[in-house]
Amino acid sequence: MTTPADIRFATATPEEIAAFTGRLALILPPEGAIGPEARRVDRLARGAVGRAMAGKAWGKLKPGEALDLAFPAGLAAEALQLVKLPRKAGVTEARRAGAAIGKSLGESGAMVLAGAHPQAADISFGLALRAYDFDAYRSGDRTARGAVTLSVTRPEAVAATARPLMALAEGVFFTRDLVNEPANVLTTTDFAARLAAMQELGLEVEILEEEELAKLGMRALLGVGQGSESPSKVVVMQWNGGIAGEAPLALVGKGVVFDTGGISIKPAAGMEEMTMDMGGAGVVAGVMRTLALRRATANVVGLVGLVENMPDGRAQRPGDIVRSMKGDTIEVINTDAEGRLVLADVLWYAQDRFKPAGMIDLATLTGAIIIALGHDNAGVFANDDALANAVLAAAAAEGEGAWRMPMGDPYDKLIKSRLADMKNTGGRPGGSITAAQFLRRFVRDETPWCHIDIAGVALPPSETALAPKGATGWGVMTLDRMIRDRFEG
Ligand code: BES
Ligand code: MN
Ligand code: ZN
Repeated sequence: MTTPADIRFATATPEEIAAFTGRLALILPPEGAIGPEARRVDRLARGAVGRAMAGKAWGKLKPGEALDLAFPAGLAAEALQLVKLPRKAGVTEARRAGAAIGKSLGESGAMVLAGAHPQAADISFGLALRAYDFDAYRSGDRTARGAVTLSVTRPEAVAATARPLMALAEGVFFTRDLVNEPANVLTTTDFAARLAAMQELGLEVEILEEEELAKLGMRALLGVGQGSESPSKVVVMQWNGGIAGEAPLALVGKGVVFDTGGISIKPAAGMEEMTMDMGGAGVVAGVMRTLALRRATANVVGLVGLVENMPDGRAQRPGDIVRSMKGDTIEVINTDAEGRLVLADVLWYAQDRFKPAGMIDLATLTGAIIIALGHDNAGVFANDDALANAVLAAAAAEGEGAWRMPMGDPYDKLIKSRLADMKNTGGRPGGSITAAQFLRRFVRDETPWCHIDIAGVALPPSETALAPKGATGWGVMTLDRMIRDRFEG
């Protein structure tokens, strides 16, 4: 697994600052009084900090952005990075400031002079998140990340605040790694093994194999995987850190390790991106890892449906009719609308077995959500306003884009089937909404439920504020925040 950069909290001495040879970063207020550490650096650098802060470039920077001075005279540092951040910065700005430092973190490491900044822990969190680099398959130019020292006036207090954030960073990295992995490595079996390994952290992990799934009647899920050499699986991860016997929150993830479209095969262009079609399962796994690492005081169960959607002599055909675990029959109009078939059975199983207090599913479910919202917002659908609002509030607090989408009977009518209880597509209009309506048919009225379509945000086409190009881990922060705010005492 990609591990977050090693970040220590200390109070650096003037000698240590002068002698530091890596990248030296100063957290500076937009204008006016700079702290004693920054003043000392300014003196050593013969007024370079003051001159830079008087210039136009500094004036144009937004909070959280930075200016780089290379090989500053008077200092041993290879670069001096001036990071603009007001003392009263919000969490998102503080993380961006950290990210500006993390983005250029190299072998020689960094020393960040944050002084008494109240958001020092979030600066370190942003730094860790942006310094992520998935280099498992790069033979040559692997960039080792040097150690980071965050110099603050109260190192113990900041370290304590940062501890749960580092658990969160590990969860986000776990998700990103899973999403970035190619499908020849991250097979259903490999995925399940990585989840089983989390038992070491105190999670209870069960793997349900095809035989068991067949007994449970999960024909909708099994139909999707029947054209693949990789066996379909459902993995159940339980974290019981809350009150014994209290109904858990259920998190359900779509884990299609590769989506060719099946017999309704996708066009070749861009198909390689479908290694990310297990992104929902990846987020569920990352949240469960975070909960275990920070020993959360909540009961949460994570369930993922792991399948591969392949065309084959045994593959499901368009026109096939399958019976779900719930008992409802589904006409498979398009084998590429497979995620909802997988989720239908896992959602039903989650409710049947755990009687959850709430249920949230995450899925790279539709291309249509990218048309609707682009890559900056996930689509949020729900049968319960309170749960939807909790998710939206948590997303806003964490700076992850999320936008509520409508549901309703007129959309549900679009998935009526001539032959079966429903069909698995409703055509192009409102494609993300009809997908959500399909899922809703597998949710009991009394279960508060929210569906998050992350197709646009799991693997956006360019870097984001806190992630390099590639997997973002969108949702781990939001769900961890929501659990912290609503499910922990
Ligand atoms: N995994 C895709 C959705 C997707 C598209 C995720 C682009 C990430 C990026 C999903 O299984 C799919 O193929 N959906 C179809 C549904 C259609 C056949 C009704 C789609 O969106 O085209
Ligand atoms: Mn598909
Ligand atoms: Zn898919």
